[in-house]
Amino acid sequence: MPARPSASSKAALLEKLPLFAGLSPGERGRISRLMDEVEVPAGKVLATIGDIGREMFIIIDGHALVTTRRGHPVRLGPGDFFGEMSLIDGDPRSATVAASTPMVLLVLGYREFWQLLDESLPMVRKIMRALSRRLRQAERSSTA
Ligand code: CMP
Repeated sequence: MPARPSASSKAALLEKLPLFAGLSPGERGRISRLMDEVEVPAGKVLATIGDIGREMFIIIDGHALVTTRRGHPVRLGPGDFFGEMSLIDGDPRSATVAASTPMVLLVLGYREFWQLLDESLPMVRKIMRALSRRLRQAERSSTA
């Protein structure tokens, strides 16, 4: 995955992402330094079910398809994130996630993920909300 060297543009990108809404420019600048920006082609597998997961991804541009063991595939797009579950509980990836179009992503490693959560309660809330939504959605699609 080629890294894009546009460090200053990363902070501007964060402004548009709901996950980082409400942060000051200074906080966004600091957070952007914790993340790498990468571009991947359509078809690239970003997480594989059963593998150890070491990073979380935030979608800047493009779409990905999440395929779980049960239930319908879920499409994710700009502003969505994935890969947080393995960082939280240390278990293997719960789903396979592949780029369905060319994508631009921010990648956050394990250590940086926890550093951010330690510092940002609004981010903790947003991740909790997403987990709860994913659980409800999984329940719905497994009983459908
Ligand atoms: P993780 O288990 O680390 O790796 C696969 C990721 O797919 C998972 O984290 C979530 O981010 C995402 N994922 C798993 N199940 C769902 C779902 N039902 N809806 C949306 N995303 C999901």
